[in-house]
Amino acid sequence: GTTAQDQVQQLCLTVQDFPRPGISFRDLTPVFSDGPAFRAVIDDLVKPFTGTFDLVAGIEARGFLLAAAVAYATGTGVLAVRKPGKLPRPVLSESYSLEYGEAKLEIHQDDVAPGTRVLVLDDVLATGGTLAAATALFEACGAQVVGCAVVLELTELQGRLKVQQYPVHTVVAS
Ligand code: PRP
Ligand code: MG
Repeated sequence: GTTAQDQVQQLCLTVQDFPRPGISFRDLTPVFSDGPAFRAVIDDLVKPFTGTFDLVAGIEARGFLLAAAVAYATGTGVLAVRKPGKLPRPVLSESYSLEYGEAKLEIHQDDVAPGTRVLVLDDVLATGGTLAAATALFEACGAQVVGCAVVLELTELQGRLKVQQYPVHTVVAS
């Protein structure tokens, strides 16, 4: 098929026991490296939010690829939500738990002006900790999170519940 959903279902790979035993890692690399698939995914990701945001944020690292493409396509700014220790100026930090350990995300304290309308992107929604942490950073700035969008949602993990105060759009739910 040719829809974004079809492309993701056909090209996404599942790698067992990565990065830890018991984890089934969803690898979207082949989706991103296929030109028509990547473009279809970007168009689908942004569609429900067209015209509603000023800034698109991508979560390190695969979210960066999505956010930059969306920003260029829509003419908005783009912001990288970083893993710890990467940013040079004072940061806001948010800790969260993953299926496989603890993690933290950071943005600069003054990266986002109050009232900025922010769309948050990542590749996969699993337990929801990552998206919840990123949205908390923007709330702490006084920004308005207009929604979240991901390429793949693993519905059995019910991560959507952690970001239920926002519209969450997924290209493929499985
Ligand atoms: C993966 C994926 C999402 C996150 C989703 O990232 O890229 O960011 O997990 O999981 P969650 O909904 O349970 O929080 P990971 O933390 O493995 O790091 P990476 O993106 O740097 O590979
Ligand atoms: Mg990630």
